[in-house]
Amino acid sequence: MKDMLERLEERRAQARLGGGEKRIEAQHARGKLTARERIELLLDKGSFEEFDMFVEHRSTDFGMDKAKIPGDGVVTGWGTVNGRTIFVFAKDFTVFGGSLSEAHAQKITKIQDMALKMRAPIVGLFDAGGARIQEGVAALGGYGEVFKRNVIASGVIPQISVIMGPCAGGDVYSPAMTDFIFMVRDRSYMFVTGPDVVKTVTNETVTSEELGGAKVHTTKSSVADGAYDNDVEALLQVRRLIDFLPANNMDGVPEIPSFDEPNRTDDSLDTLIPDNPNKPYDMKELILKVVDEADFFEIQEAYAKNIITGFGRVEGRTVGFVANQPMVLAGVLDADASRKAARFVRFCDAFNIPIVTFEDVPGFLPGTAQEYGGLIKHGAKLLFAYSEATVPLVTVITRKAFGGAYDVMASKHIGGDVNYAWPTAQIAVMGAKGAVEIIFRQDIGDAEKIAARTKEYEDRFMSPFVAAERGYIDEVIMPHSTRRRIARALAMLRHKETERPWKKHDNIPL
Ligand code: HXC
Repeated sequence: MKDMLERLEERRAQARLGGGEKRIEAQHARGKLTARERIELLLDKGSFEEFDMFVEHRSTDFGMDKAKIPGDGVVTGWGTVNGRTIFVFAKDFTVFGGSLSEAHAQKITKIQDMALKMRAPIVGLFDAGGARIQEGVAALGGYGEVFKRNVIASGVIPQISVIMGPCAGGDVYSPAMTDFIFMVRDRSYMFVTGPDVVKTVTNETVTSEELGGAKVHTTKSSVADGAYDNDVEALLQVRRLIDFLPANNMDGVPEIPSFDEPNRTDDSLDTLIPDNPNKPYDMKELILKVVDEADFFEIQEAYAKNIITGFGRVEGRTVGFVANQPMVLAGVLDADASRKAARFVRFCDAFNIPIVTFEDVPGFLPGTAQEYGGLIKHGAKLLFAYSEATVPLVTVITRKAFGGAYDVMASKHIGGDVNYAWPTAQIAVMGAKGAVEIIFRQDIGDAEKIAARTKEYEDRFMSPFVAAERGYIDEVIMPHSTRRRIARALAMLRHKETERPWKKHDNIPL
């Protein structure tokens, strides 16, 4: 018996070594942790239960029958994050570059199936070279099985991907179908085909960083939702994100004890809006002053900064925030901002996370670049996402709500449940200058007349009251009481129910 126990320990020790000491050293020398070290950091101490430690590939081509490593390049199992169950798989780059074989795929799909069955979030830690080249179509089939499960689980359990090394092929397509992707700066890359293939096919010379580094994917392509300086920081931030997320689409948002008084007022908000309507101010200040303990987890912080998206809490319960940012492009809605916010709104709606919208938007961005880039379709995504949402929607217009953007940003007309405006709100078809130049074109040469007409337009429309007179705004509120008003609205809306006609699914303009 003792022998058997010792043999088990030996086999375990061998499996834990993955690709061996030398490759582990190489992994560390590149500033990367190993798959098991990463899992230790992600999960609560000692909570990891590993599955399939002894699984090996079954391939015999290209001498693979003599190259078998227990675990086959991926570590899988489950554990807890602050006491809540999550499932996890971590690619082990020290074993065949973390590449995916048929057996490796089966380990991942087992975990995906369990996560779905248990209705618990799943986190994938990626550091891998795609399909195991020696296995050919068996590996491609394996990826297909993983992809299909990503899609079936979408909208049922949160799926999070962390890119922690070079990732190619199937190791970028599977993350692309999950809810959030995070990267590690200077060490992680995502591309469908690497620099060598790019050179062969297009004759372009490009480095991995230029082709698919964290900067590219968080600022240009918007493939990734955030980037961190190293493995430790990335994993700690993923733990923080998980604390905000529901376990699944039925459980409702987590509730944690809050020591921040929901009735807290903040007088500094009464002077947040500058006297000059064209002067910017930082909308993040409002978010931070409204959420519990100024704790805000931003999604896509470095992309389309003219709109802010992220999670905070009010009375200890998770809320999704969408806010125009007057500091960047005056908070205008362009194609990128619309797409970014639409995806966030849909995530919140799928997982029953109420949405608070802070609005200061001068309209949609005009111009050929935007129109050629499909502004109509991208803008429609946000309009569609808000209109189909059935979660509680609370909107606060702080300043401008002009044109179509007024309708889009969770207005009463498309489903806003509680719509507030600050006294500084200006709800109109457009700014006074533009309006007067169109409707009083005949007076354009007469500066005095134009000034008088502009003043007249401003007095009539540049306020929240025309909308409030029609009931489009439920109440004009004092800025200092914004947190209290939102907390009360969310509490009232907690058991909101909305009936929609049956359909197979909608047809959001993709
Ligand atoms: C088998 C692989 C492998 C792969 C890497 N390795 N990728 N083994 N199949 N796909 C092995 C290497 O042979 C090496 O083994 C070890 O992993 C480390 O790889 P290196 O190349 O030394 O590391 P590095 O220089 O850091 O480069 C990492 C890399 C590169 C960028 C990922 O290895 C690479 O380009 N790999 C191929 C990527 C690729 O084209 N994959 C197929 C995509 S198609 P030793 O023994 O020396 O340690 C695909 C299909 C799905 O995924 C499509 C879905 C739509």
